[in-house]
Amino acid sequence: MAARIHCLPVGSTVRSVNIPILRRHHRGTPDPAGDFIPMAEVARNDAPRATIDPDKSLSWLRRALPVMKAHQRMFITSLVLSFFGLVLQVQIPNLLNHAIGNSIEAHTVPLNHYVWWIIGLGVVGGVSGYISRLYLFETAYNIEYDLRNIIYEHLTRMSFSFYDRVQSGQLISRANSDIRSVQMYLTFAPLILVQCSMAVIAFVFMLTINVPLAFIAMATMPLVYFTGVKMRKSMFPVSWIIQARLADVATIVDENVNGVRVVKSFAAEEQQLRALSGAAEKVKWSYIKDADLRAQFTPLVQNLPQVGLALVLLFGGYMVIHGSLGIGAILAFNSYLLMLQAPFMMLGMLIMMGQRAAASADRIYEILDEQPTVTDTPEAVDLRECRGDIRFTHVDFSYNQDDQRLVLADLNLHIAPGETVAVVGRTGAGKSTVARLLTRFYDVTAGSIRIDDHDIRDVTLASLRANVGIVLDEPFLFSVSVRDNIAYGRPGASIADVEAAAGAAGAHEFISHLEHGYDTVVGERGYTLSGGQRQRIAIARTLLVNPPILILDDATSAIDVQVEQGIHASLRVLMEGRTTLIIAHRLSTISLADRVVLLDSQKIVADGTHAELLASTPLYAEVLAQAAELEPTSEGVGR
Ligand SMILES: Nc1ncnc2c1ncn2[C@@H]1O[C@H](COP(=O)(O)OP(=O)(O)OP(=O)(O)O)[C@@H](O)[C@H]1O
Ligand SMILES: [Mg+2]
Repeated sequence: MAARIHCLPVGSTVRSVNIPILRRHHRGTPDPAGDFIPMAEVARNDAPRATIDPDKSLSWLRRALPVMKAHQRMFITSLVLSFFGLVLQVQIPNLLNHAIGNSIEAHTVPLNHYVWWIIGLGVVGGVSGYISRLYLFETAYNIEYDLRNIIYEHLTRMSFSFYDRVQSGQLISRANSDIRSVQMYLTFAPLILVQCSMAVIAFVFMLTINVPLAFIAMATMPLVYFTGVKMRKSMFPVSWIIQARLADVATIVDENVNGVRVVKSFAAEEQQLRALSGAAEKVKWSYIKDADLRAQFTPLVQNLPQVGLALVLLFGGYMVIHGSLGIGAILAFNSYLLMLQAPFMMLGMLIMMGQRAAASADRIYEILDEQPTVTDTPEAVDLRECRGDIRFTHVDFSYNQDDQRLVLADLNLHIAPGETVAVVGRTGAGKSTVARLLTRFYDVTAGSIRIDDHDIRDVTLASLRANVGIVLDEPFLFSVSVRDNIAYGRPGASIADVEAAAGAAGAHEFISHLEHGYDTVVGERGYTLSGGQRQRIAIARTLLVNPPILILDDATSAIDVQVEQGIHASLRVLMEGRTTLIIAHRLSTISLADRVVLLDSQKIVADGTHAELLASTPLYAEVLAQAAELEPTSEGVGR
C-alpha cells in the first residue's frame, strides 16, 4: 500500500503565483498593534429599542411589556384618538333623535343646524379615525419589526449546538406566524377594549333617552357576545389546522426545490407530486371546513341585531303610539344597536386571539430563553498579534452534554508558530471536530485549547475567529456575486486584493471565464458552480482575511490534481509564517505539511513526518490507502 502512495506527484513544478499582499509578513493590517479587523460594515437597520423581559416567572404579557413600552407614545396617542373618534360617533344617533323630534316633528330648531353638526362630527371623527388607525398600524409593524429583530439577533448569537438540534422550517415559522399573532394581540386587544368602552357611553345615551327601552335594546347583546365566542371557538381550531397544513405544503415544496437533485436522480417526481397533492388536498379540506363554519355563523351574526330591532320596534312603537316616546328615539336606538354589535363580537374574538398569542409567545420565548453556550466571558480580551502557537491539552469532547460517548478523549497536540500540520484519520475519527474546537464552534468538555498561551475561552470570539481562518468541508456560498463572496470576510477589500486571493486559491482563471467575471452572481448555495470551483472560492474567501492561523478542512477534496498543485504552490508561499492545520485524505495535500498527526480512537496515536509515520505506524498507511481508494479523482494510484 505504501508503495502506491510514494508515486504520488507533488506540485513542485507548477508556476508559483505572485501574491505579495497576502503574505503573512506583508500583512497590511491598518492597526499597528496587530488588532483583528472586524467586518467593516456599519449596521443600517435600527436595533430594536427594547427586548423581552428575561424573567421567566412573569406572564407572557408582562414579559412583552418592555417592547410595547418602547412604542407607547404612538400607541397611546392612537388609542386616545380612537376613543375620541368613537365618542363623537356615539353622538350622532342622539343628534338624529333630536333632529327628528325638534326639527321634523316640532319645528323648534332649523333642520340644517343638526345637518351641520352631523357633518362636522363625521369629518372630525373621520380625521381622528384616520390618524388613530395610521398610528395603530405603525405601532403594530414597529412591534413586529422589533420582535423579528430580537429573534434574529438572538439566533445570530446562538451556538452551533443549537443549530444542530433545531429545524430551520420551525425557526422560519416562529419568525413569521408567531410574531404576527403576538403583534396582533398586543396592538389590537387594547383597541378592542377601547371600542367596548364606547358601548358604555352608548348605553348611557340610551338611558338618557328612555330607561326601559335601553334595557330592552341591550337584551340581545349577551346573545351577540356568546355567538361571537361560539363562532371563534369553532373557527379557531380550523384556523390552526389551516396554518399547520399550509406549513406542511411549504415543507414539501421547500424540500422539492432544495432537494431537486436527489428527487430527480431517483426519478421520484411522481412520488413527491403525490405527497404534495395529498398535503394540498388537506389544505383544501380545511379551507372548505372554514368556509362552512363561516357560512353557518355569518347569517346568524348579521341577523341577530334584527331581533334587537324588532324588540325596540315593538316596545318603542307601543310607547310612541301612546305618546311617551318620540319617533326619533326608535331610529337612534337602531343606530346604537348596529354600532354596538361589532365591539361585542370582537370581545369574543379577543379571548381566542389571547389564547393563540399566548401559545405563539411561548414558542418565541422558548427560543429567546435558550442561551448560547459559546460566548465571550466578561473578562475576555482581544487576541492580538497572534503568533499562531496552538496547544491542545488533555482535551475531551462530546457533542452532546448528556451523551457519555466522547468524540475526543485526552487529546494532546502542540503546533508551533508557522508550522504546517496535517491531521489524518479514518472518516468519523474527529478531524473536523478538532478544527471546530479550535475555532470555538463548540467548547471542549474537559481540558483546554490555548493559542499563544491564551485559553481560547478567555479571548473574544470575534478576535479569535478573525485570527483563525477556516475553510469548511462543505463550502457554502451566498447568492451574491463571486467578488462579494470572496470579500465576505473583508467587505472593503479592493478588487486587486480579491483577484490576488482568487489567484492564490487557483480560482482566478475560471472566474475570468465566467459570463460576468467577478460580477457573476452565483446560484443559491453556489450551485451554478462545480464542487471544486466552490471550494476554490471558499479558499479565496478565507485567504483574503489573511488569518495567522489557517485551517483547511478537506478544502481541496473536490479539486482536480493539476489545479490542486497550483493551489499548493501558492499555499506554500502563503503558509510561510502562518500556522496551518490541513485535514486531508490525499497524499499530495498531506505532502504540504511539515508534520503529520494520526487521529484514531479519540486521540492522536502517531505524530511525526510523513516518512516517519509510514515507517512506524501501519495504521497510517492503511488510512491513506483507504482514502485513496475512496477518492473519485484519485491520482491514478493503484487504479
Ligand atoms: N454536530 C454533531 N453532532 C453530533 N455528533 C457529531 C456532530 N458532528 C460530528 N459528529 C460525530 O462526531 C464524530 C467525528 O466527526 P467528524 O466530523 O469530526 O469526523 P471527521 O474525522 O472529520 O470525518 P470525515 O473524514 O468524514 O470528514 C462522528 O462520529 C460524527 O458522527
Ligand atoms: Mg470532516
